[in-house]
Order: sequence, then C-alpha cells, then structure tokens
Amino acid sequence: MAAKAKIRALVAGNWKMNGLKASKKEVVSLGKRLAPKGKTAKRPACDVLVCPPATLIASLKEAAKGTKIAIGGQDCHAKASGAHTGDLSAEMLKDAGATFVIVGHSERRADHGETDAVVRAKAEAAHRAGLVAIVCVGETEKQRDAGETLSVIATQLAGSLPDGLNAKTTVVAYEPVWAIGTGRTPTVEDVAKVHAEIRAILKKRFKAEGEAMRLLYGGSVKPSNAAELMSVPNVNGALVGGASLKAEDFHGIVAAYA
Ligand code: PGA
Repeated sequence: MAAKAKIRALVAGNWKMNGLKASKKEVVSLGKRLAPKGKTAKRPACDVLVCPPATLIASLKEAAKGTKIAIGGQDCHAKASGAHTGDLSAEMLKDAGATFVIVGHSERRADHGETDAVVRAKAEAAHRAGLVAIVCVGETEKQRDAGETLSVIATQLAGSLPDGLNAKTTVVAYEPVWAIGTGRTPTVEDVAKVHAEIRAILKKRFKAEGEAMRLLYGGSVKPSNAAELMSVPNVNGALVGGASLKAEDFHGIVAAYA
C-alpha cells in the first residue's frame, strides 16, 4: 500500500483501429475537461495518455498542445528502419509526437502471432527510441478456466520484459483477454491477486524499479467501474479501449483519480 501511494497513476486510452481526422475534437474536448474554463492547464491527478492510430499521432499531438495529454502509438517494429513494408518504427512514432507506445497487446499477439520474444524486442525498440513502453500481458478465458492465470502471466512477463528496465520507461498492463471489449471484468479480488503477483515478480527481477513500476489494469474499464478497479492495491491506472473513444467517458475514468 505504501508503494501505491508514491506511484503516480496513468490512465491510457487505446483507440485501436478507430478514429479519423474528425476525432481530433475528442482530444480537444478532453483537454478542456482537464483544464476547465480555459485556465492554464492544470495537472490532472493522474497522467493521461491517448494512443490513436498512427495516422493521427501528429494531428492529435497538435490538438493536445498546452494540455497535459500525452500521445502514444499502439505498436512498433523492433528495427529502427529498413525494408519492412507497412511497418512503423519506434523512432517514427517518436518523430510524429509520441512519447509512449503499447507493445504486446493481446490483439497484436493474436492477430499477428507476436511471441514474448517479439514483444520484448519491441519494448527494447521503444526504449532505444526514447519512448515509454506499455507492455501488455493477460490470460485467455481457456487459460483462466484451467487455473493457469498466474503461470501464464509469469511466463509472459519473463519473456516480454527486457533486462535492466526502469520504472520511468516501462509500464506493465494486465489485460485479461476475456475482459477486453466484453463488458466483463474480473472481481476486485482477482485483480488484486494478479497485480500482487505481478508486483512480486517485478520486485524480484528489477528490485526498486519493479516496486515503482506502474501496473495498469485493462479490460472493460468504464466510468462506472473505474473508481473500484483503481482502488485495488497495486493498480496504478488503467488501459482503456472502447471507453477512451469519447472524451466524456474517458474523462469519467480519469476523474476516478480526482
Ligand atoms: P476495452 O479494451 O476497454 O474496450 O475492453 C481494453 C484494451 O484492449 O486495451
């Protein structure tokens, strides 16, 4: 609990494959909600991040100017440049205005066959480029039903996190696959159990850095359940999909930290 008080929370929105130029207005609106009545931008009680599709990074960065909203990517290639048609490097995301990048989201792992080793290389790429890596882990429903949740998470963490991490440049997100986009969430007891285990693993491997690292919960977080989920020990913020698309909903989650 003591460690939790010291960790500044992060509420991160993952827009996934949603958003066109017009979606810029959501970031403008979010910025206004974070600093009401056009006063000098006030630091919200948590860090706020929006990860749009890469096509919108530059324009959302522009829209977020003067606010405390950070902009991030949703994935990156492990290499800095080269013959990889259609891919984007961490350096490119940074160049476009990103300061964070999500790696190893379960949709990337499932849709693109990303292994723990691939995710680890991407996290290393993020660090090479000077981005904060949000490394995602989480069990499927089948694994959960088989009682494998903690062992799956342990294996993913061992394989996906590079050595020598520090808490400033790495965030871990626990996202049970069965809770993503389904409206279902684990009980607070289950979230507490998994997050305590993740904290113990990080502490063992990364010592003080593991103790200070931010652990996000993700999977059907919405304004109505955010405060409860965020009050769980070792939960230092949220990774939000669907409810991050509209400024009003996303701000409702950020407000859980007010
Ligand atoms: P969701 O997605 O909030 O829509 O469940 C979370 C995520 O995939 O990051």
